Amino acid sequence: MGKNDTKKFYLLGDPVGHSISPIMQKLFLDYYKIKGQYKALRVTADNLDSVLSSLKLNGVLGINITVPLKETIVSYLDKVSDIARFVGCVNTIKINNRLLEGYNTDALGFQKSLPISVKDENVLLIGAGGAARAILTSLGKLKCRKVLIFNRTVSRAEALLKEFKIKFPTIKIGVSTLDSDLLKREIVKAKLLINATSVGMKSHKQELSYINPEFFHNDLFVYDVIYNPLETKLIQGAKEKGLRFCNGLDMLIYQGLESLKIWLGQELPFKSSLIEKVRAILTQKLQD
Ligand code: ATR
Repeated sequence: MGKNDTKKFYLLGDPVGHSISPIMQKLFLDYYKIKGQYKALRVTADNLDSVLSSLKLNGVLGINITVPLKETIVSYLDKVSDIARFVGCVNTIKINNRLLEGYNTDALGFQKSLPISVKDENVLLIGAGGAARAILTSLGKLKCRKVLIFNRTVSRAEALLKEFKIKFPTIKIGVSTLDSDLLKREIVKAKLLINATSVGMKSHKQELSYINPEFFHNDLFVYDVIYNPLETKLIQGAKEKGLRFCNGLDMLIYQGLESLKIWLGQELPFKSSLIEKVRAILTQKLQD
């Protein structure tokens, strides 16, 4: 077998040095007995053009896109899939005959990772970026009753409201700033509270200080999309109150598996033991 039998995948962004995606994708590739490599490459908007050209020439099959390239990448795409168009954000690219096809796997990743039913329920969503868009798409598909979006920049949340009201006409959507009393008032009626901002991440200095666990009720499920650290202040608050909660690790795992499916163009059946193994290894890595 020649060198060209190795299937090549990349994560592009900055910073990517501490990304756990290469470890995760290697575990998937091994599980499916696929000869492949997944590497993280530090790329900014300045060298994106030349990097993409060389990846195309080198027979790379797939790319994941992360901060700060999520918006810049759009202008390089030759095709945008229905799901990426619906979500309004691309995190996965398939290279097909040197053409770049944009996909979104975060929406399905979130949906698969969510351990509770939200049908006809109220949800509080904090954030209005790419992650929030993917989550809003899932919540719509899962037919929840109402979603209130809280964001620092309220105009961004308003843009989401406008867009998603048309996409999901039966779901009530509201917006607010982060510091409003609305959060305090609405949390009693909500089944799920999601942090889809980057606040609380290891690299961030801030915490979601405006969300006081004092107002959490016993049936509230707390979901933080952050997985590094594994336990944010928000998760600690939920834990201390004895609530059900999860971090963003399962969303990462399921979106990664969806990306691999798209790149290979085939179904990838798995046993729950795969998810458990990947989760355990990544957890260990994040604790090092
Ligand atoms: P992602 O693709 O991870 O969602 P993003 O699109 O840059 O990344 O969105 C980041 C989210 O985190 C946004 O909701 C952002 O709020 P703004 O729209 O006001 O920028 C939120 N965020 C980032 N830093 C924040 C901070 N210090 N305080 C509050 N919200 C913050």
